[in-house]
Amino acid sequence: MKIGGYSISGNIFLAPLADVTNIAYRLLCKQHGASVTYTEMISSDAVLNGNSQTFRRAMTCKEEGVMGIQLFGNSPEKITAAARILEERYSPPMFDINLGCPFPVVTKNGGGSALLRSVDLVQDIFMNLNENLTTPVSAKMRVLGNTDATVRIARVIEDAGACAITVHGRTRSQKYGGTSDLEYAKLIKSELSIPIIVNGDIRDEHSAEHALAYTGCDGLMIGRAAMGDPRLFDRISYYLETGECIAPATCTQRRDDLINYVELLERFDLLGSMNIRSHAQWFTRGLDGSRKVRQLLNHADDMSSIIECFDVLCEPNVDQ
Ligand SMILES: Cc1cc2nc3c(=O)[nH]c(=O)nc-3n(C[C@H](O)[C@H](O)[C@H](O)COP(=O)(O)O)c2cc1C
Repeated sequence: MKIGGYSISGNIFLAPLADVTNIAYRLLCKQHGASVTYTEMISSDAVLNGNSQTFRRAMTCKEEGVMGIQLFGNSPEKITAAARILEERYSPPMFDINLGCPFPVVTKNGGGSALLRSVDLVQDIFMNLNENLTTPVSAKMRVLGNTDATVRIARVIEDAGACAITVHGRTRSQKYGGTSDLEYAKLIKSELSIPIIVNGDIRDEHSAEHALAYTGCDGLMIGRAAMGDPRLFDRISYYLETGECIAPATCTQRRDDLINYVELLERFDLLGSMNIRSHAQWFTRGLDGSRKVRQLLNHADDMSSIIECFDVLCEPNVDQ
């Protein structure tokens, strides 16, 4: 598919995930077939304040290929100014604007899903970006409880120059509860011309196939199911191409992925600032005996003991 003028192979995107999609994790997912990756949401105010931690969250490299830096905020001028700083510093292939975060830390200042209340402000944000940046800008939105209002705002985003829209079919008040309603992405896809990416509750080959077939969307985006399981991208791509499933990652593969992740964190000098014990927990999800390993991980205090916890898991007959 094409997005923002880039031809990409495949159509499976890694979602922006706060405290998860750092550059190391994004590269790991790219190595396993993610077509497009996004940084976690980054405050436009923090960029303007020159916060060094914020810049680390935004960094990318050539090897990452097509990716987007996701920004949140509610001032068209400030979001554009922050994007220009990051454009200058990192030349990212894309930016993405967060119109989905449901949490007060973001919505109390009018950002994230709070933007969906003001069509005019959304229009100003995308027009301002479009007029002042050369980098393409996409949007990631939640839905309003009403299809007409949701399609209207998606159309405003398209008309104001966005290059693509990701639709997470939950309302702000649902947070992460209930189910993601595919009807919205389907309707938006049928009404708009830019690429539409469907997101929400896609966790395996069959939910991916269903979401694409039902909505007719151009691509799909995976969040939670990709945490600790970067090979999910390869599995879904393979299934979409051939109709056949490959076996899920084995314990040894998960351990190798964790080691690879740690090496990438080291390469970008990020290991010291991560809670690696909690990140290691992601890699146990869905594995037989994962409870036992999670208990062991709670007491592991250096990298080699973290990896050793997996050695225990990779042995057969571990207590459940
Ligand atoms: C831990 C976590 C962090 C998230 N951080 C962001 C974020 O920074 N920006 C964003 O647009 N969405 C964020 N989301 C929402 C996801 O990108 C995605 O829309 C949502 O999880 C639904 O997709 P899924 O069912 O595949 O997880 C986050 C979700 C989770 C669970």
